[in-house]
Amino acid sequence: MSNTSCRDLIAVDELEKNWVTRVEVGRKIIAVYDTPTGIYASLALCTHGGADLCDGYFDDHVIECPLHQGAFDVRDGQPIAAPATRAMRTLQVRVRDGQVQIRI
Ligand code: FES
Repeated sequence: MSNTSCRDLIAVDELEKNWVTRVEVGRKIIAVYDTPTGIYASLALCTHGGADLCDGYFDDHVIECPLHQGAFDVRDGQPIAAPATRAMRTLQVRVRDGQVQIRI
């Protein structure tokens, strides 16, 4: 990612360890996931019914929706448990100078 296309999202130190952290950017809510293999991010919107995934249960690389327990792999956004059938929208992430950055 080039520097011009990235923006700071949150300091790495502010992330909930091994959990999901909510970050608001304008009117969007972004879910930032701290996992054993790195940091990932997605829009917080569940593709099944629009629930806020930041209120879900997070384990390893899987976010479980708080509303109907659909689940997604945060690494690629793919649904891995019904009733979720459509991928969630993932965002490109990198870490620079202690900041989690996303591509915009
Ligand atoms: S709203 Fe997320 S599984 Fe239904």
